[in-house]
Amino acid sequence: MRIGVIGAGNMGTAMGTIWAAKGHQILFSFTNGSMRLQKALAAAGVNGRSGTPAEAVAFGEVVLLAVPWAAVGEALKAAGLLKSKVLFSCVNCLKPDFSGLAVGTTTSAAEEIARAAPDARVVEALPPMAEVLAAAHHRLAGQQISTFYCGDDAEAKAIVAGMLRDLDLEPIDAGPLTSARYIEPNGMLQVQLAYRMGLGSRIGIKLLRG
Ligand SMILES: NC(=O)c1ccc[n+]([C@@H]2O[C@H](COP(=O)([O-])OP(=O)(O)OC[C@H]3O[C@@H](n4cnc5c(N)ncnc54)[C@H](OP(=O)(O)O)[C@@H]3O)[C@@H](O)[C@H]2O)c1
Repeated sequence: MRIGVIGAGNMGTAMGTIWAAKGHQILFSFTNGSMRLQKALAAAGVNGRSGTPAEAVAFGEVVLLAVPWAAVGEALKAAGLLKSKVLFSCVNCLKPDFSGLAVGTTTSAAEEIARAAPDARVVEALPPMAEVLAAAHHRLAGQQISTFYCGDDAEAKAIVAGMLRDLDLEPIDAGPLTSARYIEPNGMLQVQLAYRMGLGSRIGIKLLRG
């Protein structure tokens, strides 16, 4: 599959690199001018290329949005029209100092992104910490990490679920896009556990069924 990546930071690089290793074609885009986009390209090897956000949209059958909440407006403006494209958002609405969420409970980052890009088919999934994904073996205690995803378009959700499986994650369908109101606080909780409560970033959530 061709995947356009907007945001070649921790998440864009970690996910894009794994997908490239699985044979997907990746176009990385969006940078403040740091060297991270070059590092992402080097990590992705022959299946990686770079371009602008608009080129990522034109290239990708799916577009991954992997930018900080504060940069979403600028990223979507640079992306241009998404024309029914699947927009896989891993954006959490973390405040810049990671002290909490900028929006929540009555809306979510995913819903605001869908409002700002009404022509896209938005699916949200918040995979585990980039440090976990970037590790060669990112199962924890031998177990696949569960990753909740949500959206309003069944076909788009099925595509994103497949992309999560390619990351060796266990996709859990959390329902419509409004479920992002509950997925995003769960992401915040993991940030809190990792960085404020001292558990470190090698953590993940597992859904158990009885
Ligand atoms: N990190 C995690 O473990 C994790 C886990 C789950 C979800 N998330 C969510 O995933 C999203 C991405 O997180 P991340 O850790 O990958 O962020 P990050 O490492 O800061 O990467 C952000 C990327 O966007 C680019 N960027 C940011 N602002 C820009 C601007 N104004 N103009 C042009 N380029 C800009 C950065 O370019 P430069 O490198 O050049 O600055 C970088 O390529 C966030 O919404 C976060 O909440 C993160």
